[in-house]
Amino acid sequence: MTQVIAPAQAAMPHALLLDLLERSPKAELHVHIEGTLEPELIFLLAQRNGVALPYLDVEALRRAYAFTDLQSFLDLYYAGCAVLRTEQDFFDLAWAYFQRAARDHVVRVEPFFDPQSHTARGIGFEVFMPGLLQAAQRAQDELGLSVGWILSVLRHLPEDDALQTLDAAMPWMDHIIGLGLDSSERSNPPEKFARVFARAAQLGLHRVAHAGEEGPPDYVRNALDVLGVERIDHGVRAAEDPQLMQRLAREQVPLTVCPLSNVRLCVVPDLARHNLPQLLAAGLKVTVNADDPAYFGGYVNDNLTQLFAAQPALGASQAYALLRNSLEASFAADADKSLWLAQFDAHWQGVERPQ
Ligand code: ADE
Ligand code: ZN
Repeated sequence: MTQVIAPAQAAMPHALLLDLLERSPKAELHVHIEGTLEPELIFLLAQRNGVALPYLDVEALRRAYAFTDLQSFLDLYYAGCAVLRTEQDFFDLAWAYFQRAARDHVVRVEPFFDPQSHTARGIGFEVFMPGLLQAAQRAQDELGLSVGWILSVLRHLPEDDALQTLDAAMPWMDHIIGLGLDSSERSNPPEKFARVFARAAQLGLHRVAHAGEEGPPDYVRNALDVLGVERIDHGVRAAEDPQLMQRLAREQVPLTVCPLSNVRLCVVPDLARHNLPQLLAAGLKVTVNADDPAYFGGYVNDNLTQLFAAQPALGASQAYALLRNSLEASFAADADKSLWLAQFDAHWQGVERPQ
């Protein structure tokens, strides 16, 4: 377990710390592959597939990314998916993301994919899975990037739809490491998906769920108790419940926090007032992630550097803890994790070590 030195005033110059953060090996544990669809690629695919877009150009589309809450984002996110039609489209989407992640020194990524946002448009697993898997294979071969896919079900749809989605995924199970839960959180509590998560447990899948992004702390508790999740995606609203905070710290439940997402979806007012330092100081196993980087203005290194620039309380020991947590909390094989952790410790050697 990593401990955080508090107070965390690093003696090192800020520029050096940001450079260390950027070049450090790290894991990305909360990224939606459909959320990496950059406006330029939306336009390219729209042209390739003859899909009409209600925006004049890339800049006009970017201007529309002014969100007021989660739902206002999801409406555009699902609309953006409409340009993804062929196996090649899914390959191009994922390969572009993997190259971008490798530039941020990501060594392991566990991306979500949302089958229902494609099957509802008549695009089946036989179309998107080969494209995604070929991109992942190329990322492993050419970039040394390890990929573990998490199938995520949409919580605004009925649980039966999620169960059918899991059934349709059966031929691809060798390539899927976990089940996730995303989309509109309010009024769609974790317990609505108890059966599909029980089925995932039978299948030996890892389980994670978005909880405590817009939803109350009880959604975090129920994701743990009813769905049996091993990580909480977001979880920032857990801070409103001291008992829950104590439990998350005691059980070292990883939280995949996404600072730029939280600002852009108005979960927090700005990065300077993000509660990540409080979560970390309370002993929680926090990680930093990008969520939907094409929509929220930054990939994982942007999240890290902008957060550290905005929060003077964050120094070298917090950087070390956050990035080490990301590798420790991944679902990769122990042998891979040991290798990455050794590389990680070599990178941070002599900097400032946790006690
Ligand atoms: N789907 C994609 N991004 C999401 C987020 N931040 N919250 C819930 N569902 C999502
Ligand atoms: Zn998310």
